[in-house]
Parts: sequence; C-alpha cells; structure tokens
Amino acid sequence: MNNKKTYTLAILPGDGIGIEVMDAALMVLDSIAGRFDLHFDLKHELAGGASIDKHGSPLTDSALQTCLDSDAVLLGALGGHKWDDLAQDSKPEAGFLKLRKGLDLFANLRPAIPFKALLDASSLKKEVIEGSDVMIVRELAGGIYFGEPRDYQDNEAYNTLRYTRFEIDRIARMAFDLSRTRKSRVTSVDKANVLESSQFWRDQVRKVHQEYSDIQLSDMLADNAAMQLVRDPKQFDVILTQNLFGDILSDIIAMISGSLGMLPSASIGKDHAMYEPVHGTAPEIAGKNIANPIAMIGSVAMMLEFTMKNFQAAENLNNAISDVLDQGFFTQDIAGRYDKTISTIEMTNKIIQQFNSY
Ligand code: IPM
Ligand code: MN
Repeated sequence: MNNKKTYTLAILPGDGIGIEVMDAALMVLDSIAGRFDLHFDLKHELAGGASIDKHGSPLTDSALQTCLDSDAVLLGALGGHKWDDLAQDSKPEAGFLKLRKGLDLFANLRPAIPFKALLDASSLKKEVIEGSDVMIVRELAGGIYFGEPRDYQDNEAYNTLRYTRFEIDRIARMAFDLSRTRKSRVTSVDKANVLESSQFWRDQVRKVHQEYSDIQLSDMLADNAAMQLVRDPKQFDVILTQNLFGDILSDIIAMISGSLGMLPSASIGKDHAMYEPVHGTAPEIAGKNIANPIAMIGSVAMMLEFTMKNFQAAENLNNAISDVLDQGFFTQDIAGRYDKTISTIEMTNKIIQQFNSY
C-alpha cells in the first residue's frame, strides 16, 4: 500500500445548501490530498432532517460513533421548514447539540476578516471594517443551550443558564492561548450587571487571567459589545463569551466579511473537532447551485490548521479564496450590483485551480 498520512473524516452534509457546500468541500479535499500527499478516509453519515426522514432521529448513535472514531468531523448545515413543527429535542438542530455534547466540543472559534475584494459588499462602511480581524471564542457545550431544568408547559416555559468553574476555566484558557498567536487582547463579554452566572463568569475569567499577564483582558457587557462591533470592530482581537451571546455576536461579525456565506468555524474539544460554516441551510436557495461555498471551504482550511497542523496547506487554501475574489469572481450573496455572478461549482473549481497553481 502507500504510507501517506491518513485522516479519517466523518462527512455530514446535512440539509439544504449543506449538501451543495459539502460537495464543494469534497472536491477541495481531493485536490488537497493530491497536492500535499495526504489520504482522507471519508465516512459519510446522515444528520439533521435527512436523518429524521430516514431514521426518525436527527443524529443516530451510530452516526455519533462514526464522529467519535474520526480525526475530524466536517458538517454542512442542519434544518429546514419541513421539520420546523417538531418538538425541540426532535428537530434537526437537536443534531448539533448531540454532536457538540457528544464530542464535548466546548470551544467554538469563529473568525471574521474583511476581504479586500469585498470591502464594498458589507452594509458597514469600508473604513469601519478595513483592517479589522475578530475571533469569537464561543463556549459551546454549556450555558442556556444545555441547562436543566428546561420545559415548555401550558402556562409557562423556561430554560436554565448555568456555568461551572470548570467550564469557564477551560474556555478562558482557550481564548487566552489563541490570543497569544494574535494581538494578545481578550474582551470577555457578559451581562454581569444583571446575571449571577455572568458575575461568576467574569470572576473566573479574571482568575484564569492571572496566569496570562502578557494578555490584555477587558470586560464588556453584551449589549454594548453588539453595538461596538458595528461601530468599531478594529478595537477587538479575541472575544470570549458564553454560548448564547457567542451565537448572536457571530452573526453580527459576518458583516465584516460581507456575508454569512463567508464565515467558517471550528468547534474544538479535548479529543475531537468539528468544522462547519456558520451559515444555515438557506432553504430558499437550496438545490440551485448558487450557494456560496467559501464558508465551508474556509472551514476545511481551519481543519488543516487546527487538526492536521498543516499550516502551509491551510494558508494556500485561504490565499486561493482571497485570490479568486480579487480576480473578480463572486457568488450571488457577495456580488456587487454590476458584478457577474458564478455558481457554487464554478466558485469551487476556481478556488481549486488557484490552490493547485501555488
Ligand atoms: C449556530 C446555529 C446553531 C446555534 C443552531 C442552528 C442550533 O445558529 O451554529 O450558530 O444556535 O448554535
Ligand atoms: Mn447561530
């Protein structure tokens, strides 16, 4: 046989445009394997609505086991109107929670940078976003998404927001370590003016910070952070925050890159990792070959960086993305009024061609 470095990858396209952008990712993986002498052993599994239709559950235990047995998971997107009326724990989105909890993916890294070619694609002014580089470190395996008790009853409904010292400690370390490779600034976002859980968060983050005296730490209230992100994103380096605030703030930073179709993400735990675009299934445009594959391809680049430590391949792939944009090729979500748009597959082929040219 051969002695190429082999990685086992769980491939979960999910629903809607998840399927198309995953096809794009698989094409890209093929050329990475060729170019960097790697072998990817792909294990395909259903997730989300597709899994509900076939197996009656958004993620089967055997699909989860495949993920647990893999070096990394690549996920497209989960959900769709067809399954909107199902109970909370039976919806496609419950598949995410099972994956995040099951793989203990406690850290969700969501970076946003402006691309030169897209400075005008944003609804924010060019001078506001130019030069910004924000990384949200979102706690992903705890908080109000998972807190018990939770219930939907006749006359009331409730969820529980709880954080333990252990959970805050590990996500804070992740943020401080990551900021060391960047600008060494961490903004911890909370709602300590009203919530005990946030006061506790703030106190624990400060404790961990004592071991990171080289990092500049500041606290910011979540409502203010939302405003500051659109007022002056350049003031931020790493934003450290709980699950729900991270969810909201990461959609806001999409406007730095011009479209939700541009944002990749990495979800990391002690032993496992999953890579997926920040965007959802976009049912309105699904199946039309017009979705932007860049968030998914950027997620592959994050996998090359964080799981495979293949920094050269990651850099080449990211450069291929920005070079293709510089050449004036755009999908519909990022095209200016007068730009010609290209399809999902055309964009993917352009990026591959560029990647192969380095
Ligand atoms: C995200 C998504 C998910 C979340 C949903 C689909 C469960 O919005 O990954 O940002 O809220 O975490
Ligand atoms: Mn979200």
